Amino acid sequence: MDLGIKDRVALVTASSKGLGREAARALAAEGVKLSICARGKDALAKTAASLAEEFGVEVLSTTCDLTDEGQARELVQRTADRFEKIDILVANCGGPPPGAFVDHDADRWRSAVDLNLMSAVYLAQATIPLMIPKRWGRIVFSTSISVKQPIDGLILSNSVRAAVVGMAKTLACELGPHGILVNSVCPGYFLTDRVLELAEKNAQKSGGRPQDQIDRWAGQSVLERVARPEEFGPLVAFLCSQKAGYITGTSIAIDGGFSRGLM
Ligand SMILES: NC(=O)c1ccc[n+]([C@@H]2O[C@H](COP(=O)([O-])OP(=O)(O)OC[C@H]3O[C@@H](n4cnc5c(N)ncnc54)[C@H](OP(=O)(O)O)[C@@H]3O)[C@@H](O)[C@H]2O)c1
Repeated sequence: MDLGIKDRVALVTASSKGLGREAARALAAEGVKLSICARGKDALAKTAASLAEEFGVEVLSTTCDLTDEGQARELVQRTADRFEKIDILVANCGGPPPGAFVDHDADRWRSAVDLNLMSAVYLAQATIPLMIPKRWGRIVFSTSISVKQPIDGLILSNSVRAAVVGMAKTLACELGPHGILVNSVCPGYFLTDRVLELAEKNAQKSGGRPQDQIDRWAGQSVLERVARPEEFGPLVAFLCSQKAGYITGTSIAIDGGFSRGLM
């Protein structure tokens, strides 16, 4: 299916690897021009080069720490300077550390808010004024399945991402009249570096092997496996597409049936 977004411009953040890179790949496959970012320069340059080579699209890469408001706004400006517009924003960032409530002091909470809520706020604030005059836009906030069913030992993620979904739903209402669609995607367990690190930390704590933890997560999905990273991008690309023109204000699970709620 042609998603109808060839030559659109997308800013996909935290995208040198993992889910962000997969979202960027799926958009690149549709002929979308990309702006990608991460803090680490080398992995980012490698990803930019491979996306440009594989899909023949223009890719702008910017090293940027999204927890820094100035850097996040500069990233948006740099993207707009290069491409003269931003049609699509996929707001993604790193994940907060694991732990229970007793493990995190107030600074850890503030850092998690900066990482997962404020980064999304900065990106949306800077991008929306570019979309409104065009009367077309797609914003996807990448959160976690924890917004539908809290994950044991991830209280920071469980708490802060709910705020992002609250913002996304409200923004969908405010921006609908301007032709801008806003949705959230809620991944379950995808075998990225982040999930491997969580499995390792868990194994250190419990004395087991990282693979045992991964097997337990796999068992929580009704498909009895964790997801391959490349299974993430197509959902994001569809939500960013012309074809998704009547989908806004949703938060869509992509979790292999992990969450047990009815909706
Ligand atoms: N994988 C899963 O199963 C899963 C499930 C639910 C939710 N999530 C969430 O989805 C997000 C992405 O996860 P992932 O699995 O793709 O992680 P990942 O494989 O570790 O990739 C994280 C990406 O974000 C970049 N990044 C991290 N912090 C950043 C910052 N402050 N500013 C700019 N870029 C930053 C990293 O590059 P640099 O380190 O170079 O900056 C990297 O490109 C995380 O918030 C994670 O908690 C993941």
